[in-house]
Formats: sequence, structure tokens, C-alpha cells
Amino acid sequence: MDQTNIDGRLIVVSNAEPFQHVFDEGEVKQEKRAGGLTTGLDPMMKNSDNLWVAWGRGEADFEVTDDSEKVVVPDEETGYTLKRIELTEEEVDGFYYGFSNSSLWPICHSFPHKALLNKDNWKTYKKVNRKFAENVIEEVEPGDKIWVQDYQLALVPNMIREELPEAKIALFWHIPWPPWETFGIIPWKQELVEGMLGADFIGFHTSWLVHNFLDTVFKLGGAANRGEGLARTDSGSAIVRDIPLGIDTDFFKKTPDQAEKAEQLKEDFACSKLILGVDRLDYTKGIDRRMEAISTFFEKYPQYKNKVSFVERISPSRSRVQEYKNMREKIERMIGQINGELRGERWVPIRYFYQQLPQKELIPYYLAADIGLLTPLIDGMNLVAKEYVATREKGMLILSEFAGAAETLTEAIKVNPYNPEKVADALHQAISTPEEEQRRKFAKMKNKLNQMDIHWWRDRFLDEWELSIHSR
Ligand code: F6P
Repeated sequence: MDQTNIDGRLIVVSNAEPFQHVFDEGEVKQEKRAGGLTTGLDPMMKNSDNLWVAWGRGEADFEVTDDSEKVVVPDEETGYTLKRIELTEEEVDGFYYGFSNSSLWPICHSFPHKALLNKDNWKTYKKVNRKFAENVIEEVEPGDKIWVQDYQLALVPNMIREELPEAKIALFWHIPWPPWETFGIIPWKQELVEGMLGADFIGFHTSWLVHNFLDTVFKLGGAANRGEGLARTDSGSAIVRDIPLGIDTDFFKKTPDQAEKAEQLKEDFACSKLILGVDRLDYTKGIDRRMEAISTFFEKYPQYKNKVSFVERISPSRSRVQEYKNMREKIERMIGQINGELRGERWVPIRYFYQQLPQKELIPYYLAADIGLLTPLIDGMNLVAKEYVATREKGMLILSEFAGAAETLTEAIKVNPYNPEKVADALHQAISTPEEEQRRKFAKMKNKLNQMDIHWWRDRFLDEWELSIHSR
């Protein structure tokens, strides 16, 4: 350990890595990964000595790492160190596809009927969490702060705490926390919550998620103080706060080149109004319900045929989980049906892209879209909604009332994603909103996004974490 390190680094620990390396025509190429967590946290790591520990899942990831599996990303000039953890096929199956994404994910998103509760997957989850914890422990120097991210690593805080009782450990939970009766069906619920309470400080995106978590702690026989946001069990205690993740608003300021690309897109799509959805392929994103709403929209408001087009950009994700395969098939079938029934000579009602795009290349799509339509059935945050607003001066945002972002973006038209009639009406309302009103709403939302950006989020989290340590 380097005793001279007084200020300490930030060690971010997450399952998802911010950048992966792949082979491209014989060359190794670096790619940014999709997903709210990594796109959200990467900007705050730039230009620092901080360390990020994550699963290396790119096919060429270990071609570029040094002897301790480290690499500087995105580049030497603006970069930080990424330490990659290698997982075996069996670990990936049981930990990632298994317990994380076939048990915890559906349960936390309130889809308990989709959850698989398999004991072997749980064992692998524990084993991989241990692997992450050990990889962190061997890096820690005095003064470092260890910031664990998300549901894949719920046991890591306590595993580190057992080895390093004095360590500063925090956890941010990026997905929803369900009501007790849903979380309660997990046979290993007690161990999960005790694993989390190895952290001094735990953050969620919204106040209702904090409430659900405290309720769970209480139902498990622990102490939960709502007023102080304090959770305690025999294994440990943590301060719990809601701190909504923000975005790097500067990144979304348009360049002339992007504006030109946006014009080109509008021309290519041959429509007078463009409506955009951008999602990771996931059943929680409500894309199938959205297709139903689009169909209802053209039925109820036929005047928009040949004029309004929808663009749906989907990035592939978790493609080995059956639910995800089913969802892709269903969405493609629905789009085929709508387009087959309605399309005109040049006009196509829904333009569909199944491909991951680098974040920069999404900006022309945001600029081209008159309306952003983001209707997840439930979402911890939904950063795309924030990105759409940050890119533009006017437009309309239609947002699910069950997305964490709806707590901040109160000027959006809020919809129940399960109600196609109301989503269709919201589309009509958005198209008919005068430009002046659009600008007013966007100015207000942009103001909030600028104030509560990614740097605010980091500073707020770090300050509250520090306070929680001192108040012990
Ligand atoms: O926020 C939820 C989350 O699982 C993150 O942990 C992750 O960055 C993102 O969604 C993408 O998911 P995956 O890594 O499974 O593709």
C-alpha cells in the first residue's frame, strides 16, 4: 500500500465496462458500450487517476491489457485506468445471464412472473461477486473510496467490508427497487440486503425507490428510519438517499456537422414530423406497447398518415436470455404489420434500426426528431429522455410516468405506457403544441438538466457519502 496517498482515488466497480475492444478487419478497435450506467459515469472519470474495475467482455479486451489486466481508456490524453475482470463461460451464464438478468432484473422491475429462481445461478452470483471483491481489495490504498454500482454486485460491499473494516464503501443502485411483496419472493433476500449494507452509503434515483428499500429492510427485521434515511441490520448500517443521475450536458451541444446530418435524416425519412424512440432491447422498455400505441394513433388520427414517421433505434442487449429473444421477434413482427398495412409510396410509418450506435452519432437523430417518445413500463431513470432534451431548444417529450426521469422532467407530457389510447392522444397533443410553448418547456427542462448534471450528481453523492461517514 502506498502510504503517501492521502486524498485517495475513486475506485468505481461495475459489471458493465465503459469501453470494450473488438476485432475489426484484423485490427483491434475500441468501442463505447451502451447503457445508462456506463454512459453516465464515464464523463466523471475522464482526466483522472481514478480506477474503474469491470467485467471485460469485448472479444479483444485482453489483447490490450497489461500484466495486471489494466488499460487506459478512452485514450492516454483524457483517460483513466480500467481494470478488466475475466469471467468464464460458466460464470457468465450463471452470474450475468442467470441470477443478475433472469432473477434480479425482472424482480426489481416488478415482473416477478418472468423471474427464474435457480440455486446454481445464485451460487455463481456469489462466486463472481467474490471475484470482483478480491480484485478491488488488491487495489485499495489508504484513503481510497470504493464506489460499487448496481444490482449485479449487491454482495460486493459486505465482502470488501469483511476484509477491510475501515474502508469507505458506497453503492449506487441504478435500477428500480420493487415493493416488498415482490422483492420478498427471492429465497436469498436476506443475504442480498446484508451484502448491500456493507456500504456506508447507498443511493437510488428517486425518493419512492428509497422508500421501497427501507420498507424491505424493515420487513426483513432490520431497523429503517425514513426521516433520517437510515437502514440497519445485524450485518451493518447505511445512510440511504435519492440522488438522480444526470448527464454530461456539454457533450450534447450540437455541432454544425451534426445539424447537417440531422437535416439529411429528415429528408431521407420523407415526413413532416419525426418521432423518435431510442432504447436498449429490453421488455421493460415497453417497445411492444409503444407499437400498439402507434397503431392506435394512426387509427384515431388518420390525418397524420403520410406525414408523421416514427424512428425506433434499438441497441442489442442480453441476446441469450429467452425473454429478450422473444421481445425482439415480437417487436419486429408488429413493425412489419404496421408498415405492411399503412406504408405509402415514399412514406414509411416506422423506421426501425437494430444496431448499437456510438452516442455521438445519436445526436443527429435527437436533432431531427420533433418529438421524443420514451415509454418504458418501468425504468430506474431513462437517460435518453435527458439526452433528447439537452440536445434541442424546442420539441416535445412524451415520457412514461414510471421512468425515474419523470420526477425531474415535469414539463414532459407524462403517459401511462400501458394505455395506447392516451399515448395516441399525447402524440396528437405534442404535434399540436405551439412553438412558443415548446421553447418555454424546453428552457425549463434544460435549466434543470444543467443544474443537476453528471458533475452535480458525482459531487452530491460524494458529499453526502462523506457526511454519512462523519455522522457515524
Ligand atoms: O442500468 C442497468 C444496466 O444493467 C447497467 O448495469 C448496464 O450498464 C446497462 O443496464 C446495460 O446492461 P448490460 O450490461 O446487461 O447490457
